[in-house]
Amino acid sequence: MDVIMSSTAVAVVIYCEEMHLKPLLEVMSAQDKQGKVWIYTLSFTFIPGVFSEGPSKLLNGSIGLVLHSEAMPGFSSYLQSLHLSKYPNDMFIDQFWEDAFDCQLTTNNSVSPLLESSRTCTGEEELGDLVTLLFEMEDLSYTFQAYLAVYAFAYALHNLMSCTNEDGYSEPGKCERETISPWKIYLYLRNVSFRTRSGDRVFFNEAGEIPAMFDVMNLQIFPDNNYRLLKVGKYDSQATLNEQITLDIPSIIWNQVYRQMPHSVCSKSCQPGRRKNVIKGQPVCCFQCVPCSVGEITNETDATVCLKCPEDQWPNEYQVDCLLKAIQYLSYEETMGFALAATSITSSAFTLLVVCIFKKYSETPVVKANNRNISYIILSALTTCFLSALLFIGYPIRVTCLLRQIVFGITFSVVVSGMLAKTITVILVFKSTKPGAIGKRFDSRISTIVIVFCPFLQIGICMVWLLMSPPFPELNTRARADTILAECNEGSNIFFYSMLGYMGLLATVSFVVAFLSRKLPDSFNEGQYITFSMFVFLSVWLCFIPAYLSAEGKNVVIVEVFAILASSAGLLSCLFFPKCYIILLRPDMNTKQYVRGK
Ligand SMILES: *[C@@H]1O[C@H](CO)[C@@H](O)[C@H](O)[C@H]1NC(C)=O
Ligand SMILES: *[C@@H]1O[C@H](CO)[C@@H](O)[C@H](O)[C@H]1NC(C)=O
Repeated sequence: MDVIMSSTAVAVVIYCEEMHLKPLLEVMSAQDKQGKVWIYTLSFTFIPGVFSEGPSKLLNGSIGLVLHSEAMPGFSSYLQSLHLSKYPNDMFIDQFWEDAFDCQLTTNNSVSPLLESSRTCTGEEELGDLVTLLFEMEDLSYTFQAYLAVYAFAYALHNLMSCTNEDGYSEPGKCERETISPWKIYLYLRNVSFRTRSGDRVFFNEAGEIPAMFDVMNLQIFPDNNYRLLKVGKYDSQATLNEQITLDIPSIIWNQVYRQMPHSVCSKSCQPGRRKNVIKGQPVCCFQCVPCSVGEITNETDATVCLKCPEDQWPNEYQVDCLLKAIQYLSYEETMGFALAATSITSSAFTLLVVCIFKKYSETPVVKANNRNISYIILSALTTCFLSALLFIGYPIRVTCLLRQIVFGITFSVVVSGMLAKTITVILVFKSTKPGAIGKRFDSRISTIVIVFCPFLQIGICMVWLLMSPPFPELNTRARADTILAECNEGSNIFFYSMLGYMGLLATVSFVVAFLSRKLPDSFNEGQYITFSMFVFLSVWLCFIPAYLSAEGKNVVIVEVFAILASSAGLLSCLFFPKCYIILLRPDMNTKQYVRGK
């Protein structure tokens, strides 16, 4: 009882005879333990006499299986019309009569000696309503089996009598109707197949059994202790799997505790998106529902496992379905991509404008000062720098991946080398104006060497990079669970950082040289402008490293594009805008005297 009552199970299946359940029900009834629904099998028969009032009340609303039965036409009128005089030769009728009417037949002297009745049977008694008391008319399931058995035997006998040679049991041309022996009937019996009046087919399978068929009964006990067994469903082993059990649930009356169908579960079932997690030490029907792990789904209720979504998919909010992951990259359509692209194009246009101004005033002292050609090289490299930002925007394809870092690295090294060359020019110009200095030829040669040789190393690094492990476009599913990053795999980080490092080295050298020479009295302080622009350049790229390393997804690209644009713009404005200012707005300062200066 403790086991049953401590369980959350409401339905208890009884697989025993009524006598074995009796003690349990008596203890439970004594302690008023209600609320369990009993489900009993064929071995259990509810007999009111066996159970006293309390225990039988506990069985109120039980569900049970009984052998399938149907109405047997004419059977109850046959029972009612039973009479001594009708069946004088029936060997059982005398005893039945004595039992039924509690009397003794005078003609009889050998009937049960236990029955010591004082009364004498008249032979005129009428059964009438007594029939329902004497026979369990509520449950004729066993009687029905006997009824079927008799029918089956009758059919077998009939088939034997009307034997034809086709049935295969007789020798050809010989149908021995005369000799009816049990083994012959048995052969025919195995093969009978007939329909009862209600339409159910009766036959025997290979094992000699008839297909299982049960009625599902509901035991209803009324307050006055009368009871009723109501047929509420059927089990038919012949039916298709889904229709084997049919139940008429609304007609079931549950016990006094449950007005509606009780739920007998240890744990409520798990919704889709969650899976069962068994609780240690408890039956398998007791479980917790835990949400599927990250990246997993289940669309079934009561799932035991969650399934991983495919690589390119990701669970929806409720983890019941996999959705395609979003593909992320910096596109022209979004504001940031558009703004960066627009900045890149306008800045390069601006640089071209500066080139035009320089071309137009190419013979003026300001433009001619400090090596015109280097200025043109720097300006065209800057234009390319601005434009190279475009390679970073848009869906990465093979060509853009190959070109983006390399174009950026080479053009920037050209720009920085140009700056270095310019600084060197400044120094040499200063030295050449001193008495006994080296000639002007030498100065332009050194600048040329610098501007050719320094980017050349960078080109070398890039070529090796392209040959050894070229960058390639990649759909990165590892970085983020819910998005695919369309990005360029740099192939080898070593080359990327060597490229950046070399650029940094060049920039640092230019900065240091420019810084040392900033005080030289050159043409309108170009040394200072170079120092300042290299300072801006270095600051931008120093900030770039930590930002680049901590960014993820398309932010990596944004950071790099931003650094490219900002450093190029810094160089352009620090170095060339002052010159443009003088050329366009202060032509009075654009003189040899001024440029030669003090
Ligand atoms: C059996 O249950 C029914 C339905 O709840 C109830 O009406 C009836 O009184 C119960 N019988 C007994 C003996 O309590
Ligand atoms: C669950 O998902 C499987 C595979 O995606 C599908 O075949 C099945 O129909 C789904 N079941 C339900 C109830 O949505």
